[in-house]
Amino acid sequence: MTRLAALLGLELPLLQAGMGAVAGPALCAQVSRAGAGGTLALYKEPPARAARLVREVAAATGGRPFGVNVVPEVTGAARCLEQLRAALPELPRNGFVTVFGLPADDAARAVRAAGHPLVVQVGTPADAGTALARGAAVLVLQGVEAGGHLLGGRPGDSLLAAVRARHPHAVLAVAGGIATGRDLADAVARGADGALAGTLFVPAAESAAHPEFKRRVVEAVAEDTVVTSLFEIGWPRRPHRVLRNSLTAATERAPAAFIATTRVDGRPYPVPRYSAAAPGAATTGRVEEMAMYCGRSCTRVTAAHPAAATVARIRREYEEARALHDGSHTIPPRVPPVPGETT
Ligand SMILES: Cc1cc2nc3c(=O)[nH]c(=O)nc-3n(C[C@H](O)[C@H](O)[C@H](O)COP(=O)(O)O)c2cc1C
Repeated sequence: MTRLAALLGLELPLLQAGMGAVAGPALCAQVSRAGAGGTLALYKEPPARAARLVREVAAATGGRPFGVNVVPEVTGAARCLEQLRAALPELPRNGFVTVFGLPADDAARAVRAAGHPLVVQVGTPADAGTALARGAAVLVLQGVEAGGHLLGGRPGDSLLAAVRARHPHAVLAVAGGIATGRDLADAVARGADGALAGTLFVPAAESAAHPEFKRRVVEAVAEDTVVTSLFEIGWPRRPHRVLRNSLTAATERAPAAFIATTRVDGRPYPVPRYSAAAPGAATTGRVEEMAMYCGRSCTRVTAAHPAAATVARIRREYEEARALHDGSHTIPPRVPPVPGETT
């Protein structure tokens, strides 16, 4: 049991990332039922639909805790607050809220006032300090290995060491590079309280990702990913790690065009070339040209399973690796507490 697991009521100190177009109610519910922290992506969901989706998950988790995820830099602060105001009343008491990047003060206050732990993902030591000042109960430290949009440019290990040194008692999870129980145990041995994984769950049976996206993640190795700023329509000014495709390989920009159609709540939406949208199960068209966000951890993601089987495997591997770590001195011990303070 780590402080992350204790704080959020999890059996395993692992959070599944909220992922737009991937982490819908089915994935979130199955991850939570299996004892890890399932998380529902609200991304660009309109508030009324966000509330409905949270209700749907709450009815399916058998009382296990789950989270909802918002991305304020995509929605804007005002829309993010509207999403939270719609979703929070539907979130069971043991639920938590995860935010990609820093939340505005009023959003952070709304989460804390509703009594839910605020989990904030950051990529720099400076943002870690700001997130704690805004009341984050958990920091997710994203390394440059991560799939999706990048909040900093530092390897996860170095970010963890820097933030741990500045905030010895903060509850810290790492993101990026986590695909096995051994990865999770190594992170804990290096001073983390747990981890968050996204790419690991993209191919899951319950993931809402397009079948081609799932297939490519399973087949890919780390060198098949690339950091680019190409897929900027709808989410500008933020580099992202994606699977290489014909657009990332091209030396010249392809002409503007609609290349696919995606569906949200049954309604079709055209997808422009270079859109930030990832291909979901209902997307049709030139899916190969779309942004398939994927972390370097994909090397160790080699099969698609039901999410519960993945969580069970990670739990088994984690327990085995922890038993080994406890008897070995090859991995540095956790940062000792400052005398006179409790952890
Ligand atoms: C397909 C995909 C979509 C993502 N969408 C989101 C999102 O909507 N919200 C969010 O907080 N993070 C999102 N992320 C980033 C994750 O929170 C996290 O930083 C990343 O998955 C960690 O690296 P890993 O994928 O190697 O595990 C996404 C990641 C992926 C792979």
